[in-house]
Amino acid sequence: MCGIIGYVGSNDSVPFLLQGLQKLEYRGYDSAGVAICTDNGLNVIKKKGRLENLVQEIECLNLPKSNLGIGHTRWATHGSPGDENSHPQLSDSKNIAVVHNGIIENYIVLKEFLIKKGKKFTSDTDTEVIAQLIDYMYNGNIFSSVINAVNKLEGSFALGIICRSDPGKIIAVKKDSPLIIGCGENENYIASDIPAVLSKTNRVYRLKECEIAVITQESIKLYDFEGSGLDFSFETVDLDSSCAEKNGYEHFMLKEIMEQPDVIKKTVFPRIKENQVVFENFDLPKEYFEKLKKIYIVACGSAYHVGCSGKYVIEKLTGIPVEVDLASEFRYRSPIVDNNTLVITISQSGETADTLAALREAKKYNAKVLSIVNVAGSPIANESDYVFYTQAGPEIAVATTKAYSAQLCLIYLLALYLSKILAKIDEQGYINYLSDIILIPEKIKEIFEGIKNIRSLAQDFFRISDAFFIGRNLDYAACMEGSLKLKEISYVHSESYAAGELKHGTISLIEDNTLVIAVATQSSLIDKIVSNIREVKARGAKVIAITTHANFYKISEVSDHVIPIPKLSDIFMASLSVIPLQLFSYCLALLRECDIDKPRNLAKSVTVE
Ligand code: F6R
Repeated sequence: MCGIIGYVGSNDSVPFLLQGLQKLEYRGYDSAGVAICTDNGLNVIKKKGRLENLVQEIECLNLPKSNLGIGHTRWATHGSPGDENSHPQLSDSKNIAVVHNGIIENYIVLKEFLIKKGKKFTSDTDTEVIAQLIDYMYNGNIFSSVINAVNKLEGSFALGIICRSDPGKIIAVKKDSPLIIGCGENENYIASDIPAVLSKTNRVYRLKECEIAVITQESIKLYDFEGSGLDFSFETVDLDSSCAEKNGYEHFMLKEIMEQPDVIKKTVFPRIKENQVVFENFDLPKEYFEKLKKIYIVACGSAYHVGCSGKYVIEKLTGIPVEVDLASEFRYRSPIVDNNTLVITISQSGETADTLAALREAKKYNAKVLSIVNVAGSPIANESDYVFYTQAGPEIAVATTKAYSAQLCLIYLLALYLSKILAKIDEQGYINYLSDIILIPEKIKEIFEGIKNIRSLAQDFFRISDAFFIGRNLDYAACMEGSLKLKEISYVHSESYAAGELKHGTISLIEDNTLVIAVATQSSLIDKIVSNIREVKARGAKVIAITTHANFYKISEVSDHVIPIPKLSDIFMASLSVIPLQLFSYCLALLRECDIDKPRNLAKSVTVE
């Protein structure tokens, strides 16, 4: 939810902190700040709003050079997004500065205790409690003071801490929120995410649960929460800093939409060997699948929409009942799960708090958990029994596109894999489906060729205030995603409806010129959706339909505009129909001059409930 960065070394820390914050801004952009350690003490500069406000402020100040600093970009949880609640937070003695990602659940009790002890608070944040608590416990050694303090904290926290009277080191702490250490030449770094350090190093260590690191210019030492030393080694990540650049595109979102064919190839192709789906390290025996009574797919937002498509595909290919649940609901409703249930969690970031909690809930019932995750070493990946990684690379735009598409393709592969194990498919059917999956990247490229048409439709409709997305079965699942894309980046109110359900209430909202986007790709349901389009047209709606070339004429007879897309087996069509939906939302948001990569009130990874 927030981004943390830190530097200790022989150079000036501020340029590194600012470039790192820029890479982390997708994690939250309500405010940004840095704290640097100088001969005069800890200097804290923080500004409400986007990072550029902080950059401008720093340019006006003649800051002394500092070899030690921490920085933060915030998505507000406790307290409004003003300067005073921004991070870093200082203790009242101005000896300790803290940046924090997460939530301290017992902060009120701790705050009351510290106030009784004479501490003066200046913010509404839970983070200030951490700075004050460490200060209260300070015994001349910042490391042992931090150990004492973190053992009193409940909740989730990735922390970067510096201390005026014990300078030259950063203390990094991790519990339930991500934090990495980067190892450089004569300097070391901390960050919430790897791209923030890639301009300097690709040697990183991902802190594990309840680890504390003491990081100086020359050394990095690792401990547990009791203070016992731990061994660790760095990994060399195969990424370069350009993966988190726009590379000539106006927005990350457009770049990521365009990357989808490649991302799908990277995710899918290595898992097809000699015409077979192969999952490494997925060794559940045939008997396990034969006894399987149910599959649960649990996720949030767009990842949940992947699950909604996945239900249709898995049920069709395997006959196993699939239930799809929002992680925030699943975790609190005593789900009916046992060791004959496979729970699949889906998460781009691998750190979504609700999905992580749902995973832990599922494990209480002895269910096996398989996760589809994009970020290696993330908490959801670490705690799952099995992990399928999407190879989407860093996704920077807050609205997901390429991770969604990669997740969907992994679900297809899994469905096919299970259908084979359970002997629910014949060899020819299996090969046909596999060939179709392999074609998805090329078919998406064909859709890109129609972008001009989509842009001109966006031009016709960009002043709308409402939109409805209708579809049936898998088309309905695609509509959910299309509707979410539109509302989150363009701020147009939109709803997705199972097309047959509209007449049970919501059709009362359709009036002259209401935009209805109909997705019509499921061959057996074309006549049904034609009827639904007629119903909304009769009430004055303007209809944009997305359908296959084969159904173009049938659909264009009843619609105002048609976006034709290529054909694949019906069960994979969501991978194609979502592309014009993404592009339409993008073009519309562009015309509405929205901040496409950083929509208001949102953040990329949601590490709070
Ligand atoms: C929407 C979007 C969100 C995420 C959701 C889950 O464009 O990106 O709805 O899909 O917050 O996030 P992850 O996949 O990181 O668990």
